Amino acid sequence: MTNTHQTGHQTGFYSHNGAMCADNVALSDIAENYGTPCYVYSASVIRKQYKALENALKHALPKNNKPLLCYACKANSNIAILKLLKDLGSGLEIVSQGELVRSIKAGFNGNTIISTSFGKNASEIRACLKAGILQFNVEASDEMEMINTIARELGKKAQIAFRLNPDISGGGHNKISTGRKEDKFGNSAEDVLALYKLATQDMHNLNPVGLSMHIGSQVSQAETFKPGFEKLSEMTKTLRAQGFKVTHMDIGGGFPIIYNNETLLDFDDYAGWVRDIIAPLGVQIQMEPGRYMVGNAGILLSRVEYIKTTPSRKFMVLDAGMNDLIRPALYDSYHAIKPIKENSSPTQTYDIVGPICESGDIFAKNRECSNVTSGDIVALMSAGAYGFSMASNYNSSPLPVEIMVDGDNVAVINKAQTIEEMMERETIPDWL
Ligand SMILES: Cc1ncc(COP(=O)(O)O)c(C=O)c1O
Repeated sequence: MTNTHQTGHQTGFYSHNGAMCADNVALSDIAENYGTPCYVYSASVIRKQYKALENALKHALPKNNKPLLCYACKANSNIAILKLLKDLGSGLEIVSQGELVRSIKAGFNGNTIISTSFGKNASEIRACLKAGILQFNVEASDEMEMINTIARELGKKAQIAFRLNPDISGGGHNKISTGRKEDKFGNSAEDVLALYKLATQDMHNLNPVGLSMHIGSQVSQAETFKPGFEKLSEMTKTLRAQGFKVTHMDIGGGFPIIYNNETLLDFDDYAGWVRDIIAPLGVQIQMEPGRYMVGNAGILLSRVEYIKTTPSRKFMVLDAGMNDLIRPALYDSYHAIKPIKENSSPTQTYDIVGPICESGDIFAKNRECSNVTSGDIVALMSAGAYGFSMASNYNSSPLPVEIMVDGDNVAVINKAQTIEEMMERETIPDWL
């Protein structure tokens, strides 16, 4: 693509002479060249996020204690994004065999990959062991036995850590809180102790090395993490007092990004808790941030199809729907929505909706937005995490294109799915 609107050297999403750009590229060019709906990611923002976290930890922690940052690729598992993070020195947190295959394709070395999936299946465990992954975070006793059995079959020893459920409510929404005792995730302190004993004494193809915890996503207060860290510390002391070795500690992810006007986590406070509570345990620290790395690095471009006015509402009808970005429908989440060309006409109050046959296909209700008309392009901001990775073919809508921008460079990193491709695995039985 030729960039017709060069803007000098800026990074991220910003307005230049009234036109929104991604790095040095005008979003209008991208919409015109690649169509909509269209995800656009800024490589430079991802780099900036990674470095900011790495630096905050570097400043807080002793030199010999460099955490292994394992990007939680469920947030966005496009292989170009994985490669970008790998080149920055990131490890990976995976939750399925599909994510393992992606990680290998992106060039990750198995020894930087942690599997945290819930309900790990036999095929996935086997593939992870063959790929020589660093660690499995164990969710349940049956799962642990399965890992041991398959490791024995393959003549391997699997490094495992036990996910502790600290009974803490963290996370920006009920559905993304994962550390309460009623949640399916993790093991109670009593169960961790019993499992550690069982693994150490009876399961010869397991190497139990420590603990893991992840309390939720979009956790905005550093203090929320503190009681979890304290529970990890107590548990470590209990285990060590009984003679078990604890050398690794996966302290999870969950860092927030800005969707609207949220307060961001104070990384200095957070890194301070890691320094004061976790580092003195003398363990190799591992972390699993997802949303934070990519959330603000992506937007979803969409075309205004129609403005529909009814006696009580004004609907802005977009060509993107809940099939492309399900977060508002699933989590009531807020995404800023901006026309990519500034206009000075008075704002209107819209319900901003997609084309899907569901009343829940709403991106925003009663949203003030500058006046738009059919054919205008809007950007749904902060859509880089849990956007494309949760997209579906609902209503037989093909998956949208994904574009990466880096300075002046623009590339398609995932072609738009065609309607034919969407159906290519379907067959009509010949007896029908
Ligand atoms: C086990 C685990 N680790 C890490 C993450 C990443 O969380 P976040 O994207 O909020 O950093 C999740 C998200 O659901 C998770 O379940």
